[in-house]
Amino acid sequence: MAPAADTSADWWREAVVYQVYPRSFQDSDGDGLGDLEGITSRLDYLDWLGVDALWISPFYPSPDADLGYDVSDYTAVDPRFGTLADFDRLVGAAHERGLRVLLDLVPSHTSIEHPWFREHPERYVWAEDGPPNNWVAAFGGPAWSRDPQSGRWYLHSFYPEQPDLDWSRPDVREAFAEVVRFWLGRGVDGFRVDAVERLGKDRQLRDDPPASEPFGLPLPEEYARVDHRHSANAPEIGIALTALREAAGSALLVGEVYLPTARVHHYLEYFDLAFAFEFLHAPPDAGRLTAVIDAATRLERLAWVLSNHDFPRLASRFGSSLTRGAAMILLTLPGAAFLYQGDEIGMPNGPGAQPQIDRAGRDPFRHPMQWDSSPSGGFTTGRPWLEPRDPERRNVADQRGDAGSMLSFYRELIEVRRELGSGFGLLDAPEGVVAYKRGDHVIAVNVSGETTRLPWHGEVLVATGPVRDRLEPGAGVVLADG
Ligand code: NOJ
Ligand code: MG
Repeated sequence: MAPAADTSADWWREAVVYQVYPRSFQDSDGDGLGDLEGITSRLDYLDWLGVDALWISPFYPSPDADLGYDVSDYTAVDPRFGTLADFDRLVGAAHERGLRVLLDLVPSHTSIEHPWFREHPERYVWAEDGPPNNWVAAFGGPAWSRDPQSGRWYLHSFYPEQPDLDWSRPDVREAFAEVVRFWLGRGVDGFRVDAVERLGKDRQLRDDPPASEPFGLPLPEEYARVDHRHSANAPEIGIALTALREAAGSALLVGEVYLPTARVHHYLEYFDLAFAFEFLHAPPDAGRLTAVIDAATRLERLAWVLSNHDFPRLASRFGSSLTRGAAMILLTLPGAAFLYQGDEIGMPNGPGAQPQIDRAGRDPFRHPMQWDSSPSGGFTTGRPWLEPRDPERRNVADQRGDAGSMLSFYRELIEVRRELGSGFGLLDAPEGVVAYKRGDHVIAVNVSGETTRLPWHGEVLVATGPVRDRLEPGAGVVLADG
């Protein structure tokens, strides 16, 4: 087994976790698809950047209806991504550098091509004569499809190629416990757990009522019209989550709980961390951001995140003038922070592909990482599965050598966050400014379009640009002894 980097049980509390989307990170064999060996070859970069851990999105065998989130074998590596031996080397090389490794666990559904679907149909949710209720799939359309082979109908919360498992069954829970133990035995430090609200569904399969109030986070239109109180988040979910927690022991479990902050609380009984999705989706508005931060910090164990492979990238949502300020907030709030590959060089959304690869339209957030200024961005020597966006304009090699670059700024923030100290409090700030205290430090970011006063003084530890007693639009500063 690969040695762990150190044994402190809650290493993750202030960790920076870097999300690797494996097919777009680094190709090592010229097939145009990133792979595990590619990730290993870039660990020195992650070490240099200063992150504590990497979370690797799925690399398991998959027919790719949902680019890896439809898993056909939970305890193997898709040959396109490499081998288990490559995986062991990756974990060993990460641990040598003090980097933790988190995998993506996808328990709510398998691929329709997973052998269980034919060999153990009882592990899924079935109806005999057609959809038994009004449940809607997250990507649109009914959540029930007919299996042509048996003539019966199966439940799928996402694409029809992703049949839902029935977590009320002990054999499903045990099968997943085995998966968790398999990877822990290979040295992984924890899991990001996909779509966890789906592990609990109403046993009687009652209709979801129409939504009576806004959900609180962006949802696809059709999906937003109903209140998913029976198709997800049912009270029995605790049985499923207890089983996962038991299997994971003290390994880190990060829940992808796609709920507004006010509803995340009870998931933290089972998860160490859950993503702060309200923060990810907050507009660049000081009042709204401050309220979102206030609610999330009260839960203490929400992980800050501003981008991932499912949503428009930070640089596109906030615009180039505000990206640094947003990164400053992300990396100076108390608690763990997740950083999506490419955000650190300011990658915006790309054009995606024609015809589109992801049916839900998420190609623009998944363009290959840009390592150098060559046309392939240094991502591959072959034909990339998705074109690099603009490596000549932004790439790691150029930005590493430039003290004023976005990349150098991220690195500086990651370094400075270690010194901020404990204690946290939001500060009354001029309009348009998000400000808070960490230890003896003041962090202030002007997210508005107007220049504002900076009412605090102190040594500037890091800033988005030159700062005196004013903050230009988008400017931010970390002050010592404020
Ligand atoms: C959340 C994942 O992040 C997303 O990419 C995927 O489509 C769904 N869960 C279904 O697994
Ligand atoms: Mg490859």
